[in-house]
Amino acid sequence: MASIYIETFGCQMNEADSRYIADRAVAAGYEIASDATRASVVVLNTCTVRDNAERRAYGRMSHFKALKVADPSLKLVVCGCLAEQDRDRMQKTVPYLDAVFGTSELVRLGDALAQWRPAFGDPTDETSELRALVQPLGGAADCVSDAYSHLRSFVTVQRGCSYYCTFCIVPHVRGRFDHRPMAEILGDARHAIAAGTRELTLVGQTVNAYRDPANGADFPDLLEAVASLEGLDRLTFLTSHPKDFTPKLARTLGTLPSLNPRLHLPVQSGSNPILRRMNRKYTVETYEAKIALFREHCPDWVLTTDLIVAFPGESEVDLEATLALCERMRFAQAFMFVYSPRRGTPAAHWEQISAEVGGERLRRLADVVNAGMRELHQSKVGSVMRALVQGPSRKDPSKLAAKTTENMTVVLPNPGLDEAALIVRPWLDVRIEGAHVWGLTGTLRGIAERFDAVAESVAAPSLDLIAAN
Ligand code: SAM
Ligand code: F3S
Repeated sequence: MASIYIETFGCQMNEADSRYIADRAVAAGYEIASDATRASVVVLNTCTVRDNAERRAYGRMSHFKALKVADPSLKLVVCGCLAEQDRDRMQKTVPYLDAVFGTSELVRLGDALAQWRPAFGDPTDETSELRALVQPLGGAADCVSDAYSHLRSFVTVQRGCSYYCTFCIVPHVRGRFDHRPMAEILGDARHAIAAGTRELTLVGQTVNAYRDPANGADFPDLLEAVASLEGLDRLTFLTSHPKDFTPKLARTLGTLPSLNPRLHLPVQSGSNPILRRMNRKYTVETYEAKIALFREHCPDWVLTTDLIVAFPGESEVDLEATLALCERMRFAQAFMFVYSPRRGTPAAHWEQISAEVGGERLRRLADVVNAGMRELHQSKVGSVMRALVQGPSRKDPSKLAAKTTENMTVVLPNPGLDEAALIVRPWLDVRIEGAHVWGLTGTLRGIAERFDAVAESVAAPSLDLIAAN
């Protein structure tokens, strides 16, 4: 049987692209493999936003070489942002690749899969044995498809970004904004809802800059349209830009009950001179004013962000300003990065801060952010939170992992529910008992089919019934 293994690096856009590749593959007659050693096609969907993402992708390519040697019929494919950036270099330095597809060539990748499909019969015992020898390959399989993956869906609202932050490679490898017509987005959303999705995420690099090319509708209009779709359970969106956070958007967020109560609004730095050099198009004051408006309309929501330290020219005073902003903002979560120079971006040509200083600044920032996160998580202890199941916990598969609508991770013992029961009733009511920087631990109290449904108790007697269903 033809099968495809997809490994995904990077942001929500790559995640969404990998889902597209998986859908095309399934439509062409492939099975989704959870293990590269069993696949007829291995796809590496790459990222180039920071240097370590790039190095990991090249590392995975050389890792997969052993598979190709064991079974030359295997097709090894690279796509995504690094493929776009390094296509020529890749074809020279990684000659065993079968194909390289840039960010605008996903449809061609899908067509190639369909074309290759007839060549894959059932694997012979000989190639299976040879491949088995290659194990263990290691590396967590960010497989696009497991029993729970359809519970979450991504719908792309726009491709590319036109903002050209001076640190960012995205506009260079994904091009300028290309917004999809709202009718298409709604069509994809309906499709995902019909397939049983419980949490729909609208994705783009700067979703709140959305403009329908057909009728000029903006992002709040899009949110209202998606939120009114029949059968929708929960809706969320990633990523927004502070510049485009408008009063209309703040009002709309406060009026749509199906939205997850989380706004991800990357601030990057708490210092105006640095924001200017980053070309972020807002100041600390305008960011804070927008957050005040957001909190007025959405008092129960959490705010999450992205932060960069050691950007060229960042002084001790600039860093202190970022730390102070974090204290004031009480971010519920922050993705924190040391600046990584990207070829072809303006900031890569400026005087750089050493890796040692960068590492030390990141630790100081993490201390401030983590203290706030621990405090927030601690405030949840004793409450019951509803969270969408993700599947067995990676660290301890006897436990379940789930995410609350605020995007907090919850880990809990599985009282014996099987996959089938969890897929039918994927919302878990968890009594929170422990708080950590990474998230929460607790005990399962009930399970529900939909976010707004009353949970069925998982107390001992009904447990057997649920598991038997
Ligand atoms: N569109 C989003 C926005 O409005 O900020 C962000 C997209 S980017 C893929 C995700 C995050 O990666 C950014 O918010 C930034 O914090 C980080 N990032 C991007 N380029 C980086 C670089 N060269 N070095 C370190 N971090 C970087
Ligand atoms: Fe990158 Fe800035 Fe756009 S971070 S994705 S250029 S908003």
